[in-house]
Amino acid sequence: MSIRTLDDLLGEGVSGRRVLVRADLNVPLDKQTGAISDDGRIRAVLPTLKALVDAGAKVIVFSHLGRPKGAPDPQFSLRPVAGRLGELLGAPVHFAEDTVGDSARSTVEGLADGQVALLENLRFNKGETSKDDAERGAFADQLAAFGDAYVDDAFGAVHRRHASVHDVPARLPHVAGRLVLREVEVLSKLTGEPERPYVVVLGGSKVSDKLAVIEALLPKVDRLLIGGGMCFTFLKAQGHEVGSSLLEEEMVQTCRSLLERSEGKIMLPVDVVAADAFAPDAAHDTVRADGIPSKRVGLDIGPETVAGFAAALKGARTIFWNGPMGVFEMEAFAHGTRGVAEAIAKADAFTVVGGGDSAAAVRALGLDESNFDHISTGGGASLEYLEGKTLPGIAALEN
Ligand code: 3PG
Ligand code: MG
Repeated sequence: MSIRTLDDLLGEGVSGRRVLVRADLNVPLDKQTGAISDDGRIRAVLPTLKALVDAGAKVIVFSHLGRPKGAPDPQFSLRPVAGRLGELLGAPVHFAEDTVGDSARSTVEGLADGQVALLENLRFNKGETSKDDAERGAFADQLAAFGDAYVDDAFGAVHRRHASVHDVPARLPHVAGRLVLREVEVLSKLTGEPERPYVVVLGGSKVSDKLAVIEALLPKVDRLLIGGGMCFTFLKAQGHEVGSSLLEEEMVQTCRSLLERSEGKIMLPVDVVAADAFAPDAAHDTVRADGIPSKRVGLDIGPETVAGFAAALKGARTIFWNGPMGVFEMEAFAHGTRGVAEAIAKADAFTVVGGGDSAAAVRALGLDESNFDHISTGGGASLEYLEGKTLPGIAALEN
């Protein structure tokens, strides 16, 4: 892979040059207060930004946040992120109230060497996510006009064929930032020849989201542990009753076929925490996974399952984990995710946590991040990388 890197760009000298940095500052916001509930993705891009600031570049950062529909929507403003980014950098970040309009233009023009600007949410503009090449290209032209060089450090968005990820690098000298490089370096170890046993833990709500990665991983892994909302469709495929638990009826047959082809590598829960309702204070207890009472909803894997998963993880030499084991945001249903995370942290293995949700879970549960070898900032991106797909953002850097 021939990708130019931030060091190559720094080597050319960037003092006084306008450098565009695509970051993934799509951080979770508290539903009530709008405050940033996990700033992991902001911290992850600091090494790249600091290097550019130190080298005297005019740094123009852009990102998406959430999924606004191509027009300004205040609940998805990046303004709070600009504040947090400024605190972490120890210098004010100049915030533009639009992405390519008057505010953006004057903000960029006003930047002194070593200063940082953040433009408003890319997805406030239709061109960012448009499927129409011309519409995307027109938006990319406007963005590219702000810079002399482009750095992609938005690993979480490299799987999106969006203007800022795919089309701007075609218009400017382009390099990979520190975060993108590190992510690719780590994940390529998993797609190469990982040390065995190689154990993958998958959770999260939907089998349909994970189907492609399960198909791609099955031949490579020694064990595939499945928890989270998606386990119920597998349990149903084994002929068990799952009560009112999350179920993707149309995926049952697919799960049955996966189980048949899995040569016993797939491990499913043997017990689950079932509740009367989807609520933090709902009455709940542990039931066998092969007979969840009707009307009850499984919200976490049970203690016997945690012990079984922990035993499988104990001997592993390589571990990849994506997706919570239960509704970890509610304390009553956080034990499964915590138990599995602790087992991964303890294992004498190369450990990678993939994804927005599982990474946020590690921090929300107060676990020590340094106990994992790598916590990816990409959810969908890390899964698509492991599937072996061509990622538009990476491909754009290779050209
Ligand atoms: C993510 O959170 O997975 C990335 O920021 C990409 O966001 P998206 O799924 O809305 O494209
Ligand atoms: Mg996503």
